[in-house]
Formats: sequence, C-alpha cells, structure tokens
Amino acid sequence: MRIVLVGPPGAGKGTQASFLAENLSIPHISTGDLFRANINQGTPLGRQAQEYMRAGQLVPDEVTIGMAQSRMAEPDAADGFLLDGFPRNIAQAEALDAYLVEGGRQLDAVLDLEVPEDEVVKRIAGRRICRNDSSHVFHVAYTPPEREGVCDVCGGELFQRDDDREETVRKRLAVYHSETEPIIDHYKRQGLVTTISALGEVSEVTRRAMRALSGD
Ligand code: AP5
Ligand code: ZN
Repeated sequence: MRIVLVGPPGAGKGTQASFLAENLSIPHISTGDLFRANINQGTPLGRQAQEYMRAGQLVPDEVTIGMAQSRMAEPDAADGFLLDGFPRNIAQAEALDAYLVEGGRQLDAVLDLEVPEDEVVKRIAGRRICRNDSSHVFHVAYTPPEREGVCDVCGGELFQRDDDREETVRKRLAVYHSETEPIIDHYKRQGLVTTISALGEVSEVTRRAMRALSGD
C-alpha cells in the first residue's frame, strides 16, 4: 500500500506511523526524521534544513521533494510506503502525484488525523525524543519510558526537540493551517481521504487507522 498520513504537529503521526508500517510491512518515511538524521550527521542537506526547522517554517520544496523522492526510490519502498510529514503543501502533493504517475503507481489512501489544538499543545509540551533516532518518541505523562530520560528502544538519551518551544509550536500550527491543510482537499478530490479521531489511547488510534485502511 501507498499511504499518506496527514495531521497537525503533535497529532501522533510518527507514533502511529511506526505501528502501521510494522503491521503493513512497509517502510515508514518521515521527512522530519530524515532531516533530523541529516542534521545529526552534519550533512550539507542537514545544514540547509536546520534554520527553517528551528523557525518552524517549511524547508524549501527543492530540497524536500528531492530528498523524499530518493527515499521512495529505495528498494524497500518498491511495493509500498507510509509517508509521514510529506507532502506538506500543494506543490509537494503535485510533485508526488507526478512522481507516482511516472512510475505507473498511485496512492491508496490518505489518513487525516484529527486532534483538537489544546491536546496537540499538551502532546508537544511533554514529547521527548531520542538522541540516536528521532523516530523513538515518548511523552513524559502519556507514554513515558521505563527509565526517566532513557530511550526504551536503544538506551539513548531523551531530550526535547529544538522546535518544540511554545512560540515555534505556534508558528508550526499556523504553517499547518495555511500550507498543509489545503492538501486534504486536493486528495478529497481524488477520493482518497479518511478522517479519523486521533484522541484516545495510542493502540485505539492504531485500531481506528487499520479499520480505515481496510475500507471498513
Ligand atoms: P515533523 O518532524 O514532520 O513534525 P510535525 O509534522 O510538526 O509533526 P510532529 O513530529 O511534531 O508530530 P507527530 O504528529 O509526528 O506526533 P508524535 O507521534 O511525535 O517536521 C518538523 C519540521 O521539519 C517542520 O516544521 C519543517 O521545518 C520540516 N519538514 C518536515 N517535513 C517537511 C516537508 N515535507 N516540507 C518542508 N519542511 C518539512 O506525537 C506527539 C507526542 O504525543 C509524543 O510525545 C507522543 O508520545 C504523544 N502521543 C502520540 N499519540 C498519542 C496518544 N494517542 N495519546 C497520548 N499521547 C500521544
Ligand atoms: Zn532510541
């Protein structure tokens, strides 16, 4: 399957994507995680992305689209993938459509995670991620690690993301409403969108998402 996950910052896209990708045996492709890995490794791409991310702005399309396409072209993504955080504006959605058509492929579903803004703010405020791998995600109250400050997956140190400060979060939410939300209508026109509530236990949201993907 080829799936796009969309939803505001802090909706739980990354959290759900890891479970869904495992259930469906497809790779989880997160542009945010790819950028953070590049920043950790000090690559030129990471240096280009860093300032935009710190400011809560979108990284320019020229950089983002190329990076996403190279990742989708890797062998493990040949039969499907779960995109998390891409596309994030109309230009990226159109580039993805064209890229898939060129390869004779298409998206199967777009899952829209709906969460009230006050919940998103609480989720982001308590989020802690792993120094070794930003896809290892915890929450100090909702999904705490077994040992405070230590990643359950790899033992790495947990810390608060640079862009999770309050004023940057406000900026990211504004960018989501103005730039990203319009892609939902773009995909509604293609009949691909299912909206599910992302409130409740992580496992309950995964069940809802799996039901939506199976067409029930
Ligand atoms: P990115 O990393 O994609 O961030 P985001 O979209 O803002 O989403 P988040 O990672 O904040 O949240 P999430 O929905 O994954 O929630 P999570 O699962 O962590 O992008 C960061 C930046 O990179 C962008 O601002 C931009 O600069 C750049 N970028 C990335 N992609 C780009 C693109 N395509 N174009 C241009 N620029 C791009 O969950 C949040 C917290 O809640 C966690 O603590 C989690 O444990 C907890 N939680 C999750 N589910 C539940 C639940 N059901 N109940 C209680 N707590 C929960
Ligand atoms: Zn870890």
